[in-house]
Amino acid sequence: AKRRDVAAPLLDWYDRNRRDLPWRAKAGEAPDPYRVWLSEVMLQQTTVATVRPRFSAWITRWPTFAALAAADEADVMAAWAGLGYYARARNLLAAARVIAADHGGALPDTEAALRALPGFGDYTAAAVAAIAFGRRAVVVDANVERVVARLFAIPDPLPGGRRAIRAAADTITPDRRAGDFAQAMMDLGSAICTPRRPRCLLCPIADGCAARSLGTPETFPVKKPK
Ligand code: ADE
Repeated sequence: AKRRDVAAPLLDWYDRNRRDLPWRAKAGEAPDPYRVWLSEVMLQQTTVATVRPRFSAWITRWPTFAALAAADEADVMAAWAGLGYYARARNLLAAARVIAADHGGALPDTEAALRALPGFGDYTAAAVAAIAFGRRAVVVDANVERVVARLFAIPDPLPGGRRAIRAAADTITPDRRAGDFAQAMMDLGSAICTPRRPRCLLCPIADGCAARSLGTPETFPVKKPK
């Protein structure tokens, strides 16, 4: 699979199938970095269906970085109740305070600068850089990992195979529309390139898919035998 063979048909597919999600900018509109960040943190261990109402309630209560930075920690922790992994909520508040105190109330707009904020790991920094700021970044979550492992039929078993998957993802990431590309890969992974029975007949990039050519897409990503 080559960059031009993946990015163009995938972005066309995204334009036709873009899901309407409360944190997602409408086509042609600028994303709100605060919403992008909050949604990416909530979605890390929690499903879209669960996040939807919780995201909207949070945004009503704390609509901006400044509002969140001024919140009481106890209120923030209570608002997170049921979402799990409470370190995420604590880091959200800590990052909002750093953003208010040291960054003039706005997120820095590069992956490297984002990486320095509380709670920003590889995934969050890349996702926010791409989706909120249009920066080219290699955004790999579990859905994207599966798509890429199949596209290239990467034989290396997880977890070690993640290096090869990242390197392959880098080769297909376009310079333009980085945020749409990242979200298109995520949506493809959740709707089409599913773990058990991938819907290859509906896939916009099936032509270039090595795992499909082998006839065994569901066997990727390869897992280490227990
Ligand atoms: N999962 C994590 N982030 C996502 C996003 N921006 N769109 C769809 N699914 C996601």
